[in-house]
Amino acid sequence: MSSDTVLVTGATGRHGGTGAHVARRLLEDGIPVRALVRQHDQRSERVAALGAEVVVGDLNDYRTLVPAVEGVAQAYLTYPVDAGIVQAAANYAQAVRETGTKPRTVVMSMGPSTRTHPSHLGRAQWLAEEVLQWAGLDVTILRMAAVFHENLPLLSAQSVRHEGVIRNCFGEKPVSWLNALDAAEFCVAALRHPERFADAPVHYLPGPEFSDFHEVAAVFSAVLGRPVRFEAVSREAWEKELLGLAALPQAGLLKADMSRHIAACGYAVAQGMERGNTKYTDTNAFQRITGREPTMLHAYLTENVEIFS
Ligand SMILES: NC(=O)c1ccc[n+]([C@@H]2O[C@H](COP(=O)([O-])OP(=O)(O)OC[C@H]3O[C@@H](n4cnc5c(N)ncnc54)[C@H](OP(=O)(O)O)[C@@H]3O)[C@@H](O)[C@H]2O)c1
Repeated sequence: MSSDTVLVTGATGRHGGTGAHVARRLLEDGIPVRALVRQHDQRSERVAALGAEVVVGDLNDYRTLVPAVEGVAQAYLTYPVDAGIVQAAANYAQAVRETGTKPRTVVMSMGPSTRTHPSHLGRAQWLAEEVLQWAGLDVTILRMAAVFHENLPLLSAQSVRHEGVIRNCFGEKPVSWLNALDAAEFCVAALRHPERFADAPVHYLPGPEFSDFHEVAAVFSAVLGRPVRFEAVSREAWEKELLGLAALPQAGLLKADMSRHIAACGYAVAQGMERGNTKYTDTNAFQRITGREPTMLHAYLTENVEIFS
């Protein structure tokens, strides 16, 4: 193993798939990757075929993380939008401390990661980051201050398909939009260029577009060639709708915890809790930090049009 090796968690990817993208991009740049997967399957074989060393482990079991962490120079730490993040962070920190190696750890995080956020997963993410720092780890925490495009299939595909409506509780307020692969690009930049992130342990990274849901509905209308409108509903009504979707056999990645989280995020935005917060509105951050062109919502929807048709 090279002394440059980066441990990449979430390397199989599911929802945003950031870990899979980080692993692929580092390998393309000739950086050795140790990919943490939960089991050997077709997805782990894909990462191995790219040249990664594959290790099986679980963030819920620190014993499996000790050999994964051993000897790596850096790590990319991600966890799904789901319960269990505090335990995962504690397990990872314990494994790092047991090995005696001290990898610089780039942590995928979210804007709602605050002590007082209405989302239980936002508060849990914040607490997980506190745990990593109490443990004395060398962390660079990247709070993606944006909604991933990849949420739209989970949250709105059904209502767009059947009713021509995007319904949620974000109200009339704009939000930042970021493609999950571009979120991963921020993380690649942090792993490749630590000096760009050296000034603070926590960074807020917004997307290239800042739009309200009427504007988002207009992009849907243009891409689908039929009218799609936005309908604002209460937090309670949207959470109930999402919990109903999450209970369906075809719910896929939408889970109850994610449903409550996203409804709480919408509520926070609608209540103006982020008002005046420039960390969400810096639409040039992606190009400035990564030097790459971002994927815009129109392009993402065009590529995935069949999901909404
Ligand atoms: N969605 C948004 O709008 C948004 C916005 C801002 C920030 N974020 C951040 O994005 C992060 C999610 O990243 P993502 O979209 O890349 O996640 P993802 O695609 O859902 O992938 C999660 C990965 O973690 C793995 N995993 C799950 N449980 C694990 C465990 N116990 N031990 C080891 N690995 C485990 C999964 O493996 P399996 O395939 O085996 O399940 C999968 O590879 C969240 O932390 C959130 O803070 C999201």
